[in-house]
Amino acid sequence: MATIKDVARLAGVSVATVSRVVNQKNSVNPETAGQVLKAIEQLQYEPNAIARGLAGKKMGIIALILPDILNPFFPALARGVEDVANNEGLTVILGNSDDLGLKESSYIKVLKKKYVDGFIFASNTIREEDVEALRKERIPIVLLDRGLNTASCTVIRSNNREGAKIAVQHLIERGCQRIAHIYGPQEVITARERLLGYEEVAGGLSGYSPSLMVSGNFDIQSGRNAVDQLLARHPDLDGIFAGNDLMAVGALKALHERGIQVPRQVKVCGFDGIGLTEITEPELTTVAQPIYEMGELAAQMLLAEIESGIRENKLIELGVTLIPRRSTQKGET
Ligand code: RIB
Repeated sequence: MATIKDVARLAGVSVATVSRVVNQKNSVNPETAGQVLKAIEQLQYEPNAIARGLAGKKMGIIALILPDILNPFFPALARGVEDVANNEGLTVILGNSDDLGLKESSYIKVLKKKYVDGFIFASNTIREEDVEALRKERIPIVLLDRGLNTASCTVIRSNNREGAKIAVQHLIERGCQRIAHIYGPQEVITARERLLGYEEVAGGLSGYSPSLMVSGNFDIQSGRNAVDQLLARHPDLDGIFAGNDLMAVGALKALHERGIQVPRQVKVCGFDGIGLTEITEPELTTVAQPIYEMGELAAQMLLAEIESGIRENKLIELGVTLIPRRSTQKGET
């Protein structure tokens, strides 16, 4: 395989000149650059990617760290990131942190050694000191969805609190008065924000009680388990707002298993807008996040920082959309 020295010899220039041409430095005169490019083509020379990385140039790789690749929300998020990155000729390396800080730290350590051009973290175990360390090493970073509200990089997520208020207001409009909430893990900022939105609206209802709130784990089983607890406390509940679609799907299953009819007896609303909500029985009303667009915007913001070297510190909250379906239909017999 041809080396940089072979190219320099054939083109009649120094190795340093070849390196400047390969790294697109514009300090090389066009005629010399032409000679070098001709020699590269003739020898089928592949610049050493690590060497380019070491020269501080772009490796053409970004890393996306997700907390739970089994939840359909995250592949949809990754799709938005990947489409933007691929359009710009970059490759995306996916990492699954399993919501474990140690696993995430290990990804950061390994991927930094691979000279990735930047990181997007959709996990909630990223710490302020990790963000600060990457900033000091001038490694671009964007936090997506669950990232902490940090001041030292861009954070992109949906308006979770407003979305929760929309969900509860919808259930009220559909006639519900004793509305329960299955909330996600409170160490996750999106779950915390949705709980606050639920309390802000449901707290004003005469049928409200704190015992109408039960914790879940953003998965189907915890949604099923939550219904057991809720019905034991409030057999007369008439509405459930679940903090994500998977828990809402679990709730539908549990209600069906108990012969409780949705929406006639209990109305159910989820949050995320994953495809699964279109095929449940009944189809699930949900508050849809702009999942793909969040991923797109995160990648665009990261690529802008990679190119400019300028880190913006913005919190960007995107709007959500209520998608009413049969699980909250009024007057269904
Ligand atoms: O379904 C997974 C949840 O975790 C989503 O609501 C998303 O916002 C993430 O925080």
